[in-house]
Amino acid sequence: MFLRLAPFICLGLGLAVVHRPAPSLDNRLARTPPMGWNSWNHFGCDVSAQLIKETADAMAKSGLRDAGYQYLVIDDCWQVARDAAGRLVADSVRFPGGIGPLADYVHSRGLKFGIYTDAGRQTCQGRPGTYGSEEIDARTFAAWGVDYVKEDWCHAEGLDAPTQYARFRDALAKAGRPIVFSICEWGSNRPWEWGARTGNLWRTTGDIGDRWGTMVALLDLNAQYALAAGPGAWNDPDMLEVGNGGMTDDEYRAHFSLWALMAAPLMAGNDVRTMPAATRDILLNKEVVAVDQDSLGVQGLLVQEPAPDLQVWAKPLSDGSRAVVLFNRSTLQTVITTAWRAIGIRGPARVRDLWTHTDVGTFPTRFMATVPAHGAVMVRVTPVAGG
Ligand code: GLA
Repeated sequence: MFLRLAPFICLGLGLAVVHRPAPSLDNRLARTPPMGWNSWNHFGCDVSAQLIKETADAMAKSGLRDAGYQYLVIDDCWQVARDAAGRLVADSVRFPGGIGPLADYVHSRGLKFGIYTDAGRQTCQGRPGTYGSEEIDARTFAAWGVDYVKEDWCHAEGLDAPTQYARFRDALAKAGRPIVFSICEWGSNRPWEWGARTGNLWRTTGDIGDRWGTMVALLDLNAQYALAAGPGAWNDPDMLEVGNGGMTDDEYRAHFSLWALMAAPLMAGNDVRTMPAATRDILLNKEVVAVDQDSLGVQGLLVQEPAPDLQVWAKPLSDGSRAVVLFNRSTLQTVITTAWRAIGIRGPARVRDLWTHTDVGTFPTRFMATVPAHGAVMVRVTPVAGG
């Protein structure tokens, strides 16, 4: 049995002390990880006002909005040029009314509106970038009613990431509207060291793909920076692929469980207008969402590896309980066991299964469950008073 010592010690101490530098970004936003929807993973450049309106309607109707998915973000390709005054101009064929009225529509559905730009000279798809136009872009976004900006890092050769992102942070502050700031430089300039001073979330990895291997690789990368995360400042292992078709439902349940366990932003990336029930049941699992959104704001950690490919991940929650993911990376169904000692609690403890929504029982020292191949069991473990 392998024990990873540092997490064990942290969880043993209840993670009372989390070391991170004092943030100088103080926009009071994203006290819990941002939740919403982003166009990129499913639609790429095929974005339009029509799609955004239909998505806003679907987010309200499907229950996503009421489950906490509040930011609707248009990713790359909405912009085509700058006007004579230097303002970004939207594609007039795809966004005939412009962006401001579209933001109004999104707001009218009880959602918040997000947009994408790039800190370099051009976006990743070759559209105009924000470099040198930080102040005017921040003012334009604020005037349109933008609530969330994702800023990418393509075409930024020779530029310094902490400097450029701080420049846009300051421009946003000057523009005077509360705007969540999402830093997207793929972990290439150690953003876990400066991101909390600059943005509300920062990507720690390259782009996700709708494949098991990619998802697991991002999990392992993002896990390394757990101590940098906290209220207002989150590690971002990239958006969700749940429902996009490249993984099985067991794999998507594992993906969603682990993103929640890591207090990752939960940005759905599927076509929410046509969600099958299985996808809806994953994204709308309120007990798993509650783990992600727990007010303590601690990123969970890998705490036990009972055998190669069999893992136990744990996250302390504000009520003294622990969220635990029994994670089977192997291709065979198997039993995984966790000991209370490994997740930093004293027994006995009650166990609730967050996917079957059942109370499983009270256990003196440990818990075991059968976990599907490429799958996860997620439970909440609550010490029994006086135990
Ligand atoms: C980069 C980002 C993605 C997406 C695309 C858009 O690859 O990491 O999340 O925004 O650009 O072009």
